[in-house]
Amino acid sequence: MGIKIFYFSATGNSLQIARNIEEELENCVIQSMATCIPNKPVGGLGESIGFIFPVYFNGLPRLVKGFVEKLAISPNTYCFAIADSGGTRSNSLGMMDDILISKGVRLSFADEIKMPGNYIISHNSPNLTEVERLITDASIRTKRIAKAIFNCELQPVKQKAKLWSEIINHRFLYKNAHKLDEKFTATDKCVGCGLCAKVCPVNNIKIENQRPCWQHTCEQCLACIHWCPCEAIEYGRNTIGRTRYRNPNVKVEDIIRSCGGME
Ligand SMILES: Cc1cc2nc3c(=O)[nH]c(=O)nc-3n(C[C@H](O)[C@H](O)[C@H](O)COP(=O)(O)O)c2cc1C
Repeated sequence: MGIKIFYFSATGNSLQIARNIEEELENCVIQSMATCIPNKPVGGLGESIGFIFPVYFNGLPRLVKGFVEKLAISPNTYCFAIADSGGTRSNSLGMMDDILISKGVRLSFADEIKMPGNYIISHNSPNLTEVERLITDASIRTKRIAKAIFNCELQPVKQKAKLWSEIINHRFLYKNAHKLDEKFTATDKCVGCGLCAKVCPVNNIKIENQRPCWQHTCEQCLACIHWCPCEAIEYGRNTIGRTRYRNPNVKVEDIIRSCGGME
């Protein structure tokens, strides 16, 4: 049996989960959703296809939704999904299931993992002790999930607060999407290294006169803020003084590679 996992990750949590599952399972490969979409149908009888992604505003990141909508999946594929988040109730897995159902497949197995929250626009990320605790718990849970996937166990999605999640997801990600990056600024701490552009999964940052310029196709993933080595990027006044978060098991090179760089 072959297992292919598509992941999306800005600060490394989803990548860590994808890698942990890859380590647990034979014949498992992982691929970033921020690189190209396979041009042939994936899956089929005896094949498994997985999706691992962060929850954004109670639902799916736009990049993840767009990727899955375009992906061709063969019938009779065992599909699974893992949504990681800061721990709020969301219907991201229900949204994923709905997209797959429209393609004639569905999630056979769906689960959630609580990880350190990275949405520092509205709250601080957890302290180091809490990060360590959450990551240890997540690793134990990931092992259990990997075993379930190996055994093709069934754990269907339970739709949760469907309408509410759709409203929140639409309100904060889709409505005025082109304005999502208007509040990003680079302070005097910026040295023009360009790392922010390299970790942007949608190529939304151009470096002009040694300063980042956001091009209005932002995903709000916050990779630019969290990976900036000088902590020079802010989102309005919301992020001033807030601790940046990067999954301790993931390196910046891994995120650049996930965005299609460093080949
Ligand atoms: C734009 C945005 C929206 C988010 N919305 C939620 C949310 O609704 N509920 C939640 O629990 N966490 C939310 N988070 C936190 C992430 O889901 C969480 O930190 C995730 O593990 C990050 O994964 P990554 O490191 O792979 O990018 C949000 C993060 C971002 C950047």
